[in-house]
Amino acid sequence: MQLQVLNSPFTQEQVELLNRLLPTLSETQKVWLSGYLAGSQLGTAAAQLTQIPAESPKISKEVTILYGSQTGNSKGLAKKSAQALEANGYQVTVSAMSDFKPNNLKKLQNLLIVASTHGEGDPPDNAISFHEFLYSKRAPKLEDLNFSVLALGDSSYEFFCQTGKDFDARLEELGGTRLYPRFDCDVDFDEPAAEWLQGVLSSLGEAQGQGSAQAPSQTAINQATESVYSRTNPFQAEVLENINLNGRGSNKETHHLEISLEGSGLTFEPGDALGIYPDNDQELVDLLIKELNLNPDEKVTVKQGDVRTLKDALASYYEVSILTKPLLQKAAELTGNKELQDLLAPGNEEEVKGYIYGRDLIDLVRDYGPWNVTAQEFVSILRKIPGRLYSIASSLAANPDEVHLTIGAVRYEAHGRSRNGVCSTLVADRINPGDVLNVYVQPNENFKLPQNSETPIIMIGPGTGVAPFRSFMQEREETGTEGKSWLFFGDQHFVTDFLYQIEWQKWLQNGTLTKLDVAFSRDSAEKVYVQHRMLENSKELFQWLQEGAAVYICGDEKHMAHDVHQTLITIIEKEGSMSRGEAEAYLANMQQQKRYQRDVY
Ligand SMILES: Cc1cc2nc3c(=O)[nH]c(=O)nc-3n(C[C@H](O)[C@H](O)[C@H](O)COP(=O)(O)OP(=O)(O)OC[C@H]3O[C@@H](n4cnc5c(N)ncnc54)[C@H](O)[C@@H]3O)c2cc1C
Ligand SMILES: NC(=O)c1ccc[n+]([C@@H]2O[C@H](COP(=O)([O-])OP(=O)(O)OC[C@H]3O[C@@H](n4cnc5c(N)ncnc54)[C@H](OP(=O)(O)O)[C@@H]3O)[C@@H](O)[C@H]2O)c1
Ligand SMILES: Cc1cc2nc3c(=O)[nH]c(=O)nc-3n(C[C@H](O)[C@H](O)[C@H](O)COP(=O)(O)O)c2cc1C
Repeated sequence: MQLQVLNSPFTQEQVELLNRLLPTLSETQKVWLSGYLAGSQLGTAAAQLTQIPAESPKISKEVTILYGSQTGNSKGLAKKSAQALEANGYQVTVSAMSDFKPNNLKKLQNLLIVASTHGEGDPPDNAISFHEFLYSKRAPKLEDLNFSVLALGDSSYEFFCQTGKDFDARLEELGGTRLYPRFDCDVDFDEPAAEWLQGVLSSLGEAQGQGSAQAPSQTAINQATESVYSRTNPFQAEVLENINLNGRGSNKETHHLEISLEGSGLTFEPGDALGIYPDNDQELVDLLIKELNLNPDEKVTVKQGDVRTLKDALASYYEVSILTKPLLQKAAELTGNKELQDLLAPGNEEEVKGYIYGRDLIDLVRDYGPWNVTAQEFVSILRKIPGRLYSIASSLAANPDEVHLTIGAVRYEAHGRSRNGVCSTLVADRINPGDVLNVYVQPNENFKLPQNSETPIIMIGPGTGVAPFRSFMQEREETGTEGKSWLFFGDQHFVTDFLYQIEWQKWLQNGTLTKLDVAFSRDSAEKVYVQHRMLENSKELFQWLQEGAAVYICGDEKHMAHDVHQTLITIIEKEGSMSRGEAEAYLANMQQQKRYQRDVY
């Protein structure tokens, strides 16, 4: 094995020294060194040592890119990567993992994986079966495979980029050779993803014996695929309407927002989501600056060529409300605070999790000072505020140039302070008709109406989960679809929380909606949830499944989606006279056929 330096901050002398030392190392030591450098701070961006076979045999120019994506980011990056590779003369096949026949894995020589993580460290829906296959006994030996993994995630989750890590580790275990080290990307993934792609192109080029391949610049990649307005260039959209859907006395506050897309050229389909880049609450920002004892008008550079006052940067560029472990680590380094360093010591993972939960940057600054830092030093440890996604609640066919959303205000008490979700309470408290929001469309191919308009649909959407089903109904009404439809809706109280009640009743009357079952959880002594209504109707529900119905779940991921999933299996088991395993396989098969789709958060 030879080690080769790519994009490295090492001097040439250091590289030569390393390479001279290599023959004295055992294979295990070499693998360890390579892994260490890939996993170290250096490895995340600047320095990568890559293993290349000693004789650099030529490898095929065929590259397969498989993506596992729930909300479209990995899919978009997979497609961009394909374009860049094709521009460099590679023959590329791009596929969702769910559309790839795993038995073909053995035939591949070059495999790139782009995968996000969902749930609590779980693969996205369209990666589940491929993930299971790789970890099963049926997974083949892959000694001829070169691979590289781009992992997408969010460092505010405990199991950061877990699915990408799983694929990376498993492909190595099966004998594959890592063409280029895995990159783990946080929510602001464009730059690291472009860097990974350049690294992959260089490694492929080296292995071809061609020297480094020409990787297109990030801008070129973006231009090749994105329309004028996108996640990286949001549209400033005017708000047309903002109404609280809950009645007086409700525990909930769910806002129906209507936004104009006029002039943007943005389009979407039912099932897609809209991203909003929120501003932080100015009061919180002022408090934070006061705690830090900094000058709000001091200038900071947020990125090359973008200089703002500290106050503006904290209000509209940086995330100040959510703590993540990487942020705590950077803060510990910056402040040198011993207590914080102790908290972060190995073995304290649960304590760190406990500290992060329900706290924000103001808590961190108060708890672990003194922060004798400059404004620039302070912002350098923060990450860019990520956009918030909202399932679109309208159809373009019914409301041209408009997009409607259903946004539940997130408010809670924690550690002696009332706290507000950044985006949902911006909308609830401070956005009025005429105001402007920065938005982008996030397509979701995993939540789409059936192609055959006669296919029956079963929609399960408690709370804000009902949003995309309003879009489905509007679309079906506009297009005069014949297919049957059945909605299960639930919320706390019939009187105050029956979201869009009049519209569902109108659709029931005109036949757009065939059946409606509702579960108001707090109107009776015992809690009643949507899954109870499904069980009460289990015979008919199974009959719809046998007729080919597609099932959609939207809303809370942690409890509702899991419980409804189990209920579906119970119904299939009971009404189909199957074992639990057979019922699970029935549902998995529906998922494979895209007849079981989830949009959960
Ligand atoms: C694909 C998709 C579609 C979505 N569709 C919708 C939709 O249609 N409607 C909708 O309302 N939302 C939807 N969401 C959720 C939405 O994106 C936001 O996550 C939500 O509005 C909260 O954002 P925020 O900025 O208000 O809150 P944030 O500032 O992001 O705060 C939320 C965070 O606060 C913390 N938190 C919340 N409650 C507590 C508590 N009790 N104790 C301690 N900590 C707590 C948690 O860390 C939580 O992640 C969707 C999400 C996705 C991914
Ligand atoms: N990730 C985020 O930042 C974020 C932001 C906003 C919302 N969310 C999630 O999105 C969900 C949607 O919020 P929402 O306010 O519109 O609705 P919701 O809280 O999900 O409530 C809708 C209905 O579902 C019921 N419910 C509770 N647990 C259930 C279960 N296990 N199975 C089936 N139904 C259940 C509720 O009953 P009871 O309340 O009476 O138990 C209520 O009647 C929330 O649960 C929240 O967790 C997440
Ligand atoms: C409900 C939900 C759960 C998530 N869970 C995790 C997680 O456990 N670990 C992680 O690193 N990222 C997690 N993420 C963040 C996603 O991986 C991240 O947003 C990614 O960019 C999505 O890519 P995709 O659009 O290709 O699915 C989660 C996101 C959502 C909406």
